[in-house]
Amino acid sequence: MVGVAQLVEPLTVTQVVEGSSPFIHPISIILLCLTASLALAPLLANPIQIVISEGDVPCDEIKVLIDQGVFQVKNSELTTSCYLSYVKDALTLHLEKEGESLSVCVDFVTGRAKHRRQYGGGKKQPLAKACGLDKHSEWTILDATAGLGKDAFVLASLGAEITLCEQHPALYGMLADALHRASIDAETALIANKMTCVCSDSIDYIDGEKGALRVMPDVIYLDPMYPERKRSAKIKKEMQVLQHLVSHSGSESKLLERALETANFRVVVKRPKSALPLNDLKSRYSISSVNTRYDIYVV
Ligand SMILES: C[S@@+](CC[C@H](N)C(=O)[O-])C[C@H]1O[C@@H](n2cnc3c(N)ncnc32)[C@H](O)[C@@H]1O
Repeated sequence: MVGVAQLVEPLTVTQVVEGSSPFIHPISIILLCLTASLALAPLLANPIQIVISEGDVPCDEIKVLIDQGVFQVKNSELTTSCYLSYVKDALTLHLEKEGESLSVCVDFVTGRAKHRRQYGGGKKQPLAKACGLDKHSEWTILDATAGLGKDAFVLASLGAEITLCEQHPALYGMLADALHRASIDAETALIANKMTCVCSDSIDYIDGEKGALRVMPDVIYLDPMYPERKRSAKIKKEMQVLQHLVSHSGSESKLLERALETANFRVVVKRPKSALPLNDLKSRYSISSVNTRYDIYVV
């Protein structure tokens, strides 16, 4: 089942058509989405509009969302200020807000992801150490708040098998699209092979995996939404879009509780450096970088 309680505004995907889990199976975009999106469709007040122009080739996961009515292909006028379209082959989310046009896409192959992959500090960087990859490269990870997949990609590029669980279908769609592109690029194919995308509320996903008696992840990583993350204009833009789509739901507390009951070895929570711990729950220890703190709960 997919949780969409945090949706602030439904989206529109417009189509201008002219013409193992690490715990199950790597590279697959888990078809939980197939059933999940069925549960999701009625919960969206309106489907997400998507524009697909001639020459755009949606990957299978996007086709499924279109088939199931979660995404609605628009051939003519868009009726929302927030919609999806392909820009340079990448599924891109557009938001018109207060006279400003914001666009966000997920890219694991070029740009910042490539730079961080090449020069990010390897297993010595705080995120990798927080998740234990400096000592346990074999650990499996569930990123239960996948968002734009940036943290997950770093962890996968350092060798972790990682499941990305994202509740919002537009964000999931962009993750699936980016993962597809990464899987056909020679430099990132092996990394993409370690990543699995799931469209679900993570609490439902964890409960489902437990119900199916699957092997649980060694590490569960949480990066819940929080207000102040003002650094560069780019991050601000991404955060504006994320905040438009999803807001604090109050489910973070329950997610942390469930994660602590589930992970084999540790739960890692990303926080702003000066913020209180999630649930005011003292962690075993923390690792900090310039603006960020990772609270590590050893289970
Ligand atoms: C701050 S963003 C995460 C950013 C991510 N770490 C990255 O590197 O791009 C938080 C994301 O968690 C998702 N989220 C929050 N609660 C969730 C839940 N219970 N299940 C699945 N996704 C959830 C939100 O939809 C949002 O996209």
